[in-house]
Amino acid sequence: MNGHRTVALIVAAGRGERSGSALPKQFASVAGRPMVAHSHAAFVAHPAIDAVVVVTGGDQFASLEAALGPVTAVAGGETRRESVLAGLEAFAADGGAARVLIHDAARPFLSTAVIDRLLSALDTAPGAVPVLPVADTLATAGETLGAVVPRDALVRVQTPQAFAFVDILAAHRSWTGAEPTDDAQMLRAAGGAVLPVMGDTMLEKVTYPADFATAEARAGGRFRVRSATGYDVHRLEAGEELWLGGIHIPHDRGLSGHSDADVGLHALTDALLGTIGAGDIGTHFPPSDAQWKGAASDRFLVHAAELIRARGGIVDFVDLTLICEAPKVGPHRAAIRTRIAELLAIGEDQVSIKATTTERLGFTGRGEGIAAQAIATVRIPEAS
Ligand code: CTP
Ligand code: MG
Repeated sequence: MNGHRTVALIVAAGRGERSGSALPKQFASVAGRPMVAHSHAAFVAHPAIDAVVVVTGGDQFASLEAALGPVTAVAGGETRRESVLAGLEAFAADGGAARVLIHDAARPFLSTAVIDRLLSALDTAPGAVPVLPVADTLATAGETLGAVVPRDALVRVQTPQAFAFVDILAAHRSWTGAEPTDDAQMLRAAGGAVLPVMGDTMLEKVTYPADFATAEARAGGRFRVRSATGYDVHRLEAGEELWLGGIHIPHDRGLSGHSDADVGLHALTDALLGTIGAGDIGTHFPPSDAQWKGAASDRFLVHAAELIRARGGIVDFVDLTLICEAPKVGPHRAAIRTRIAELLAIGEDQVSIKATTTERLGFTGRGEGIAAQAIATVRIPEAS
């Protein structure tokens, strides 16, 4: 069964020595998430890809899990070639595959279109790679420049590179040449044809320090900023616990409602859902559903953030205003901020907590209830 599948292999076992990054570059942040998370999400989301394996350094498993959550990972080797081979052997031990795409974690912005082009080229050849034309003049390097190298006959070769699984595995296993810079050259050396398909400037590799800024700029063009608001009110009643902004606050009364009635988290959840037009909290967690009775609202907020991330989105900023006469929010502001940042997996500098009274006017002024309003700003990839 496994021998029929199409699988993806991401190599992320390098040290990123040329990148100047404190972390190995595959774990450094690009467009709001660890670099490796971008291409991993692209493969996971592609309907033709049945399994994804990430190859990482023997001492990098914890960093990988922090970046991606639980994933199938294997330890890489000293060179990129050894890392790829380790990944191929892992698939081979797991029943093999029909087709494999081999990709550098250092090329974060992988589109569905590139994957589609590669897979359709594999219908007619055992190998396919994305290529781009060379636009600059090429010359032999030296103290003074040498001869011009005709560029019309040259292309730049990117990853992912797609192969018939048995062919690339055999080419890797039998390789005895110098250290190769990609996998397609090993297939060609073994006599396999490699088809070029149109590459993508979004796939440029992050190698040197300046490449991070270029990658951010490239990513910026892919995203649209969206903001949305949320609003909620719950009644204050005796005999209830008070949960506000994800923390428990000792008070003589608490908020009543079907869940824990955390008005702050509910307003924030609605704001986040609004950014992707995903309805509101009641759409996802209907009050009529008994399983949400007394539920901690933490999970509502986490769910909304996960929906945004599942679309390749980034939560940039949230701002919450709590409206009540009592309790005083000030002494709890820092704890609320910390808790919300933790739930959304963003920095505290991306969370703002404010509070106001209504000068004893209205239901909040009379202490009958607490209101909350929130705004969330996210970035969503253009295509979704
Ligand atoms: N790679 C790998 N195993 C290695 C070396 C590299 O899996 N032993 C991966 C890198 O993580 C990267 C890809 O191969 O995703 C391309 O390699 P490169 O850009 O050279 O990355 P690094 O080796 O990490 O960087 P440097 O050469 O600057 O140290
Ligand atoms: Mg390297």
